[in-house]
Amino acid sequence: MTKEQILARIKELMAANLDRDTLLREAVRLIHRSSPKYNWTGIYLLEGTELVLHNYIGAPSPHTRIPLDKGICGAAARGRQTVIVPDVNADPRYLACSLETRSEIVVPIIKDGKVYGEIDIDSHTLNAFTAEDKAFLEEVSALLSQSF
Ligand code: SME
Repeated sequence: MTKEQILARIKELMAANLDRDTLLREAVRLIHRSSPKYNWTGIYLLEGTELVLHNYIGAPSPHTRIPLDKGICGAAARGRQTVIVPDVNADPRYLACSLETRSEIVVPIIKDGKVYGEIDIDSHTLNAFTAEDKAFLEEVSALLSQSF
C-alpha cells in the first residue's frame, strides 16, 4: 500500500465509525507495513502524566509506561511537536527498547491543543526518518486525533 492509500484507508475506517481501540491497532498495522525502515511501530496514549503503550508491532519493549519527563516519547508529548532522532545513541534522552535501534521518530497526536498520545517508530537504520516520513506520519496523526 502506498502512503496515500494508507491515509485513504484510515479515512474510510473513521467514516465507518470503527471504534477507537480497533482504529489505533489498524493504524499501527498499516503504518508498520508501509516502510521496511519501520522496525518497531507503536502508539502510546497519555494517561495523566504517563504515556501508556496501547499497541505495537515489533520486539517487546520494556517501556510500556513512560513518564512525561522521560525519553524521546516524553519530549515529543511535552513539546507537542514531532521529534526525529537520527542517532539514538547520541541522544541522552533516549530510552532503549532494542539494541538494534539506531533512529527514532515520535509524532504526537494532538486535538485542540491537547496531546492524547503519540505514534512512535524505531528503525534499525541510522538517520532513517526523512521529511517525507514526518509529513506522512503527521497526516496519520491528524486523522487519528479526530477519534478523540
Ligand atoms: N525510545 C523511546 C522509548 C520507547 S521504545 O522506543 C519503544 C524513548 O526514548 O522515549
